Amino acid sequence: MNSRPNSYQFSENFWWGAATASYQIEGAVNEGGRKPSVWDTFSATPGRVLNGDTGAIACDHYHRYPQDVQLMAQLGIKHYRFSISWSRIMPDGVGQVNQQGVDFYKRLVDNLLSYGITPHATLFHWDSPQALEELYGSWQSRQMSFDYADYVMAVVSRLGDRITNWMTINEIPCFTHMGYALNQEPPHAPGKRVSLAKQVWQASHHALLAHGLGVQAIRAASTVPCSVALVDNFAVTVPINESPVHVAAAKQAFPSCGQNGGIVFPALTGAYSPVLLEQLAADAPDIQEGDLQVIHQPLDVFGFNVYSGTYVRAADNQLGYEFLSFPPGYPRLHMPWLNILPDSLYWGIRHLSETVGRPDLPVLISENGCAAQDRVNAQGEVIDTDRIMYLREHLRAAHRAVSEGYPLKGYFLWSLMDNFEWACGYERRFGLIYIDYPTQRRIPKASFDWYKECIKSNRVV
Ligand code: FCB
Repeated sequence: MNSRPNSYQFSENFWWGAATASYQIEGAVNEGGRKPSVWDTFSATPGRVLNGDTGAIACDHYHRYPQDVQLMAQLGIKHYRFSISWSRIMPDGVGQVNQQGVDFYKRLVDNLLSYGITPHATLFHWDSPQALEELYGSWQSRQMSFDYADYVMAVVSRLGDRITNWMTINEIPCFTHMGYALNQEPPHAPGKRVSLAKQVWQASHHALLAHGLGVQAIRAASTVPCSVALVDNFAVTVPINESPVHVAAAKQAFPSCGQNGGIVFPALTGAYSPVLLEQLAADAPDIQEGDLQVIHQPLDVFGFNVYSGTYVRAADNQLGYEFLSFPPGYPRLHMPWLNILPDSLYWGIRHLSETVGRPDLPVLISENGCAAQDRVNAQGEVIDTDRIMYLREHLRAAHRAVSEGYPLKGYFLWSLMDNFEWACGYERRFGLIYIDYPTQRRIPKASFDWYKECIKSNRVV
């Protein structure tokens, strides 16, 4: 084994994985007793999703999962992150459990286990039941948090014998702050337009509460020891250079960047950041007595989704720092926000330790990857050297975090295969496996072979 410092060797127990989410890959939206989710409604609304795409068929994973699991085995991953669709388990959002939905996930998980692949299940990756949208406006209502916890209880009591790695909720900022658009048309589901920022913060507070109640429900329902995580895509402040003054500026800026002060802070420390509350003033959410204790549940691991970041430098102003915008020619992959900033993976982990103050909490990169303009060439191959470059640089940043002693346990690449990329439909491909949608043929890309080699040799190749 090569142990030179620049060989980017990981320890033998590093977890190599890949990730997907239910609505993005399953299809079969009207099968097995499933009823519509907010994403079925949103994507069926003209003008919401690019090219009018919907998740009705997606990768047809609901039927083709055996082939997909075989491809995972071929890739060599030992960990797979997927999500469970609330609408399959409880089609009306509350009440009756749909056994056919439970059985689908049992089949999937048993298949994974037969190949020695450990399942990591996300309990909510945005596809909440449409019935709850109609009943009380989904996350606008506090009732959603309690109904979510009941759904979690239903899942874990039925699948907890074979799944022991649970992730409560994926990316609260995305389905709340990007969903409840303030005085403008919503760019994301569930597509509500609201007039006050307070309403948006209230929705994200309800999601935090759901997370806390969900953790309690998992621990109550699981009959075996299990691992529980929250998954968040907090915004990463990256110092323009690593001199002490800019490092200090990046730390100082962290709570005010994106929604950090109101999501990752309450979840991991039990309090909204005072800086944020001051900035929000009357827009801050109503927080009932006891909420913060519920939200601040002990976690076994934190799932960090990372794609890009924000440069910060020290400044001679009241704040002592400034956020820097990207210059026009900054290198970017195939999304307007996909500026290539691999150091954000390292800095995100370091901020969790030093800025949020949780050096004790193990971290998983629960998503990292990129969209590229993939084409099938005349030989029938997809040669995505741009994706390989992006991923390689991020894995090097992961290696730096590990070698400096930060508690990074593993890496889940987004995504195993091309899929329904929300408002961008099928136009933006994030997979290691190309999906030819008309035929549903799976074509492993060059990045698939590259990642396979990383896993095999346990280092960045
Ligand atoms: C994340 C989502 C995931 C996928 C990637 C590209 O925000 O969690 O479902 O869409 O972005």
